[in-house]
Order: sequence, then C-alpha cells, then structure tokens
Amino acid sequence: MAREKAQWLEDFDALRAEIAAKPISALDRGSLEEFRVRILGRKGWLTELLKELKDFSIEERRELGPKAQDLKSRIDSEVSQRQKQLEAQADQAQTTASGLDLTLPAFRPPRGRLHPLTATIDEIAGIFLQMGFSWAEGPLVETDYHNFTALNIPEYHPARDLQDTFYVEGLPLLLRTQTSPVQIRTMESQRPPLRIICPGRVFRHEAVDATHSAVFHQVEGLCVDKGISFADLKGTISLFLQKLFGAKTRTLFRPTYFPFTEPSADVYVSCVFCEGKGCPVCKRTGWIELLGCGLVHPKVLRNVSCDPESWSGFAFGIGVERVAMLRLGVSDIRSFYENDVRFLRQFDENLV
Ligand code: DAH
Repeated sequence: MAREKAQWLEDFDALRAEIAAKPISALDRGSLEEFRVRILGRKGWLTELLKELKDFSIEERRELGPKAQDLKSRIDSEVSQRQKQLEAQADQAQTTASGLDLTLPAFRPPRGRLHPLTATIDEIAGIFLQMGFSWAEGPLVETDYHNFTALNIPEYHPARDLQDTFYVEGLPLLLRTQTSPVQIRTMESQRPPLRIICPGRVFRHEAVDATHSAVFHQVEGLCVDKGISFADLKGTISLFLQKLFGAKTRTLFRPTYFPFTEPSADVYVSCVFCEGKGCPVCKRTGWIELLGCGLVHPKVLRNVSCDPESWSGFAFGIGVERVAMLRLGVSDIRSFYENDVRFLRQFDENLV
C-alpha cells in the first residue's frame, strides 16, 4: 500500500537525516555496499519512494518529484565517487605492502645493434644494390668442383696451394675458401645479363694472428653482359670505393694473377688515414690493398656453358674484415669474433 504524502515526506526526511549524520564519503567498503543496496537497490528505500510518486496527484508530484530526483542523483554520484576512492586506496595499500616503488626509473631492456661486420657487409652490399646488383647466396660447404675446378683451378694445379683448405674427409666437399663459387652457381642457374654480389663467410686453414683468421668474410661480385670491358670494371670499382671511403679516394689497379680472371688486378685505395702522404698504416706507401678483381676468364664462362664470344664480364672479391678494420681503426682481427660486448659497444652503427 502506498504511503500518504505526510508519511512519504517523513521517510524522505529520515533518509536525508541519515546521510547528514553519516556522510557517504565516510562509509567504509562494507557499509557503502550495504547502504547502496538498502537505498538504491531494486527494493531500496529511495527506489520505492520514487516509484510511489506515480500514485500522487500532479501537484504533489511537481512538488516531491524534483526533491527525490535531486537527492537520488546526489547519492548516485557520491556513492560512485566513494567507490572509486576506496578502490584507489586499496590499490595504494597493496602497492605499499608489496614494497614496490613506482617512483623508481624503469629498467631499460638493453638495446641490440648490428655486429660491426654485419654493418660493414650491409654498407658494401647497399652500394652495389644501388648500382643494380642483386644479392646472391651459396652454401658454406662446397663441392671441390665449384670452389676450384670450375673456377679454372684444376686438381693438382699449384694455384690450390694459395688457399689452404678444410676438406670433408672422404668426400669431394670442403668449407668454401672464397665466395667465388657463387659466381659458378649463379651462372649455372641464370643466363646473362646478370649482376650479383654475394656476401658471406669463408674458411681457410690459417694460423690465427692479428691479421689472419681461419673464418672470415668476403663480398663477391659478378657482372656478365654483352661488351663488358675493363673500363666497366674500373668505373664500377672506383665509384664503389669513393662511396665507401669518400669522394677524395683515389684508386690504383695493379696487375696480378687469379686463375678465374684475365686480366686480373689488385686494387689499392689512397690511404684513408694520411690521404696518400705515407703513414704506418699504409707502411709509408700511401696505398692500401683492398680487393682483387678482373675480367672473367673465358674458360670459366665455358664451364657454365656461356659463350665467351658473345658474353664477357668482370668479377671482384673484397675482404670484409679488412674494410671494417680500416674504417673502425681495429688493429686485431680477433676482436671481431670474441663477442666481448665492451669491444662491440664502441661502434655506433652509424659510424660503420
Ligand atoms: N676469390 C679471391 C680470393 O679469395 C678474391 C677474388 C679475386 C675474387 C678476384 C674475384 C676476383 O671474383 O675476380 O682471394
């Protein structure tokens, strides 16, 4: 049975008195929930008062309705405010209890960087990729045929002595001594015209010292097309070296012997430290030897069924460690492989 107006007002005032006596903002977690259910719940005190408004006359509703609505919205907002406050306090208490200090600076995960050899390979390759070469790869365990024979180094040829080799016992397999076999593999699977570079690891039976390592890296290059001449080789290599060491770099091509190129050349750059005046690094010569190159030997072309009457090409091979040592001022090749982070951290990637 609905209340009369007088009774309604009395109950309404009792509710206001209760809140005045004990403000919502002072309630603890348990009593806040109890209050919320008792007053605002489905059968709550205020809910009932609001529902009963519909039984009053229009004038009474005009008088009582706004009072009740005002009180309801005030209680609603005070209850939710108090709930949030209590939650925040609980969180804070938990944090304090756990001994966690949120004001401490965060741990930064250590930031990795490219190894100086990787960065050097990327830089060398980047220059050739810009010139239209593509990146090729080949196996580290090679056949004797690809590593030597097809490159015009027949079995029993003394030129094999130039590169002491790790053989796989009992098989015609070896750890490649140079990236040059990738020239053969590329020409076996692709017809010219072609332009590739092949960065990769190579292996030699070396006594390790400050300038020799049994495992090191090369970047091989090969360009085969119609009418390729020594001028194309010189132009390409000179431009490459200027991009790598700066526009002032001068180059020197000196005749030498490689079984797979004819003619062949060793390439020197003007010393990057003394600009050619002569210093200990260039042994007072003003020049630093950097790579080998030449025009692809006709026999090599024939070995991959490419007619040397129609096609010609140039090839080159660069030692990555040597470039990195020169550019970074590293005097012992072994530092690259020891993985001592104090060594590695010295080189900002941008410097390489
Ligand atoms: N493969 C040679 C070496 O390891 C380097 C080389 C020289 C590669 C001349 C070439 C080249 O492609 O044309 O010593």
